[in-house]
Order: sequence, then structure tokens, then C-alpha cells
Amino acid sequence: MKRGLLVALFASAGIIACQPASQAVKQEKQTLSAQAKTQEKVDKAQLFRKALNAQDKWQKACSNPTQIAPEGVDVAQFIKEMKETIKYPKDGKLVGDWKKGESLALLPKEYKALYGTKGGSRKGNCYACHCGDPRIIACGNIGPSLRGYGNKGIDPKLTYDRIYNSWAQVPCSTMFRFGYHGLLSPEEIAHIVGYLHDPESPINK
Ligand code: HEC
Repeated sequence: MKRGLLVALFASAGIIACQPASQAVKQEKQTLSAQAKTQEKVDKAQLFRKALNAQDKWQKACSNPTQIAPEGVDVAQFIKEMKETIKYPKDGKLVGDWKKGESLALLPKEYKALYGTKGGSRKGNCYACHCGDPRIIACGNIGPSLRGYGNKGIDPKLTYDRIYNSWAQVPCSTMFRFGYHGLLSPEEIAHIVGYLHDPESPINK
């Protein structure tokens, strides 16, 4: 009887003692994973900055303030090397889901203005330089309008390549090289191709 009571006491003491300990472990784990996430963000940002600042020979040629294609630059070689940087989605699908593409192309504030809900991203920012969806009137004119782009019979692969690495088609273009610099993944680029080509997309309606 006495022994039973003792065991019961020890057992409950154990449970009480274990409780805060397991909570501390949980908290420690949460802190560690938050730290890992922050580190991952820092690493990604550093990689991106490094890629942008990498002064390879073509970037150097394009940064020449006096000429767009300075003497001695072999344009055919330039384009060949840029084409070689292009990677495609694993499933080989170059035309993805236009709705996902729309959400990548629009800024959150542009998405909210159209649909009144959360969406959009800061990755594409296409409307900084282009117009396209007629409902978006605050749009850029650095690049040509993309209105009705999908009705022009352009090969979606060309569109994909253009977004992945614009320099593979227009050397020294000011358009971001979204895939090359890792701003957008191959799958994300395919969704944006869908946004530009799908007849249901507001770009083409
Ligand atoms: C910094 C400005 C800028 C941004 C941002 C930008 N573009 Fe462009 N884009 C251009 C310019 C300039 C051109 C004209 C040709 C060239 O220089 O590449 C162009 C050309 C294009 C073309 C070819 C159009 C045609 O009629 O031949 C497509 C398609 C395109 N952009 C899609 C996009 C998409 C999709 C996004 C967002 C993911 C985007 N662009 C973001 C500047 C930009």
C-alpha cells in the first residue's frame, strides 16, 4: 500500500518535471527552425546579389556606356551562350496555369485592386514595364504592351526563353533575366507563359 503510493507519487512528479522540460525542447526547436529560416533568407539574398553583381564578360559588354554592342562582341556567340543557360521544367510543360501566372506577374496591390483578395507577388512586377490586362491602367511603357500577346501565334517556347533569359533574344535588354538570376523557377515561368498565351487569360480577352 505504502509502496504503491510512493510509486504513484514518483510517477506524477516525473510527469510534472517532464512537462516543462519537453516544452523547453519544443521552444528550442522552434527557435532553431526560425533561425535556420532567417539564415536561408540571408543566404538566398546574398546569392541573388552575387548573381546580379557578377560582372561576366557579357554583362561587362552590356554595361559599356557608349555602345550597346561594343566592337569585338560576337553577337551570335553572345546569344548562343545565353541560350545555353536556359533550363526547362522537369515535366517539360512550358505552358502552365494562367491563374498562377497572373498571381506571379501582378504585385499584391495590383492583385488586390482587381480581385479584392490576397494574391500577387513581388517576383514578376511585369506591369512596371509593360501594359497588358486592360483593367490595369497604371502600367509601364519601357517594354511593348502585352495586350493580346497570345493571339499573335508566337511559339510559347520563345516566350518561355524570353522570360527565362531575355538576353538569349535581345542582347543587353533591360528586361530582367528572371530564370537566369533565379527570380522565378522554371515552373513559375511556365505559369507566366500560360498567363500570356491562354485564351482565357485577361491578357487575351
Ligand atoms: C525592367 C523592365 C521590364 C520588366 C520588369 C519586364 N519586362 Fe518584358 N520587356 C521589357 C523590354 C524593354 C522589352 C522589349 C524587348 C527587350 O528589350 O527584351 C520586353 C519584352 C517582353 C516580351 C516580348 C514582347 C513582344 O511583343 O515581343 C515579353 C513576352 C515580355 N517582355 C514579358 C514580360 C513578363 C511576363 C514580365 C514579368 C514576369 C516582364 N516582361 C517584365 C522590359 C521589361
